Amino acid sequence: MADAGSSAKRAKLAVDERDEVATVDVIARVKSGANISGLDAYRALYDSSLKDSDEFWREHATRFVSWARTFDEVCGGTFADGDVRWFAGGKLNVCYNCVDRHIPTKGDEVAIVHEGDEVGSVTTYTYKDVQREVSRIANVLKSFGVRKGDNVAVYMPMMAELAFVMLACARIGAVHSVVFAGFSSESLRDRINDARCKVVVTADEGRRGGRTIPLKHTVDMAVAMCPTVEAVLVYERTHADIKYSSKDHKLTPLLEAARPFCPCEEMDAEDPLFLLYTSGSTGKPKGLLHTTGGYLVYAAITHYFTFDYRPGDVYACVADCGWITGHSYIVYGPLCNGATTLMFESTPLYPDHTRYWDLIQRHRITQFYTAPTAIRSLMRFSNDAMAKFDLTSLRVLGTVGEPINPEAWRWYYDFVGKRSCSIVDTYWQTETGGHVVSPLPGCTPLKPGSATLPFFGVETALMDGDGAEITGNSVSGVLCIKRPWPGMARTINGDHARFMVTYFGAYPGYYFTGDGAFRDKDGYIWITGRVDDVLNVSGHRLGSAEIESALIEHEFVAESAVIGCPHDTKGQGICCYVVLTADAVESSDLLAELRLQVRTTIGPFATPDYIIATPGLPKTRSGKIMRRVLRKIIAQETDSLGDVSTLADPSVVDILIEKANEAI
Ligand code: WT7
Repeated sequence: MADAGSSAKRAKLAVDERDEVATVDVIARVKSGANISGLDAYRALYDSSLKDSDEFWREHATRFVSWARTFDEVCGGTFADGDVRWFAGGKLNVCYNCVDRHIPTKGDEVAIVHEGDEVGSVTTYTYKDVQREVSRIANVLKSFGVRKGDNVAVYMPMMAELAFVMLACARIGAVHSVVFAGFSSESLRDRINDARCKVVVTADEGRRGGRTIPLKHTVDMAVAMCPTVEAVLVYERTHADIKYSSKDHKLTPLLEAARPFCPCEEMDAEDPLFLLYTSGSTGKPKGLLHTTGGYLVYAAITHYFTFDYRPGDVYACVADCGWITGHSYIVYGPLCNGATTLMFESTPLYPDHTRYWDLIQRHRITQFYTAPTAIRSLMRFSNDAMAKFDLTSLRVLGTVGEPINPEAWRWYYDFVGKRSCSIVDTYWQTETGGHVVSPLPGCTPLKPGSATLPFFGVETALMDGDGAEITGNSVSGVLCIKRPWPGMARTINGDHARFMVTYFGAYPGYYFTGDGAFRDKDGYIWITGRVDDVLNVSGHRLGSAEIESALIEHEFVAESAVIGCPHDTKGQGICCYVVLTADAVESSDLLAELRLQVRTTIGPFATPDYIIATPGLPKTRSGKIMRRVLRKIIAQETDSLGDVSTLADPSVVDILIEKANEAI
């Protein structure tokens, strides 16, 4: 709570500046025919979504989703009791909603466009194709004993088959746990064991940015320590000559032999749909559980409004299915709406920095959804190369993952969108299932750097350091949500007590996001970043505790403290302070070894930017590490360190400053 308070104060400094930012008017290309038009229309629907909440969600749940049996209740349970439920009594199948029900009207229309790592290696799948491919893998999963309620780990590159596996699990009522293919074998092992997965689906190798990723090899190392795993199913992405042991099965022959139709399992609205692991401020990653009815309704309605989705659009979210963005906005939201969704296997810089523009031009993409870190890495290049591409198909440009700095927003708006596209800065989390604060195209006047206004049904609140709600505008605090929404996670796998403490413990009666925010004079929300010890590196969430425990595992590390530091493209970089053991000799080799240790324990995206050896850490007399001091030192804000006289050993500060200056 103390942390929350100080962040609120920090954010307050920028108040006046943000209040001065003028709005950018609703944009020409989206104006006509937008799904909802004008701020007044938004306000009216937003107000009714809170005032007549049951009616709003009853109507939209039936509009966006087909139910095998209608629900008896719209919303039940409370935050306090930890028993929130949506659409109880309703029965449905997510895969049916995303695939089968579209077949009579658009069976031959493209559901998934897959663009592989190499430019122009495109494969398209119609809704009929998807039904057939999903059915095949569903039948194979069943033949390995996967039943309703079983957990399936998925560790795959961005092949179209990754979406097929997710949908196949949903089809038979199995619970997928997709693990991003950049995670290490140890991270994968922990996630498989935590969910007690019976089957792992993977690929021989992945291809990304021209490089080969040895996925099956990583799975082998993980599965050696996973007693629950009975079978490993392997897609052949590169057909590499890899080792197959008795638990391993090549999918090619099994899929060829499988029946191309599999019935959909009828699920309860609150049956689990998937687990997705994410980092918290303390402890090991938590497996957030999303359920069937509420999640699907929320993914679909947010996809529809936030991206102003219209039939005929070619919608592209260039995230990876290993994160929640891929779950909600590559697979479930768009397919539930019957859209054409693009899956992108490569990177923004392969083979060069024009890849996105080429992608947009060739596929005539209408909505393009990426992360601020990608935008920042592309704006470093001259715009002349981009100018050669026809980007006029674009209508909506989305960003997600971290606050977007106004310079990046401007560049995205001016050069990619040619001042004719709406920018949607979508704020949300793995826990929220879908957007909770975001502009709506054609509706919300924009302000560069602000996620603007809450989505329908989402009642936001700002809290102060004492746990009280802050009213009025031009105020900063900790962002909370006041009432349940359908897309929220329902629990942490195997640890409901942790779920309750983490999200509902800090501010009783409120969902705690972990982010600080400023609400400007117009009621617009500006996210200022995490107030806890969660790092956001290139839009990827990492817990400082996780990195610290990876470092501590090394024989020469006695103690460590990890904090985020400012980074030009990644948003935040990773800075590790380590206290070496008495018998260690500090050397650049040892520091390189520690960096590698983090990389191999968690994954390459967690590679530290700085490792700084120090004789001690700044601690209070009660032994608490003062992270604030560490953050200021690496950010070179040493003139505002604050009071360090309460430290057990204030002399450590000068040493740290010197060490940090050497490292930068
Ligand atoms: C954290 C959630 C939601 C999908 C990707 C990340 C930060 C996310 C924004 C935004 C400012 C943002 C927050 C949040 N974040 N979107 N538009 N503006 N911050 O999901 O890994 O669960 O991370 O990402 O700090 O808490 P995630």
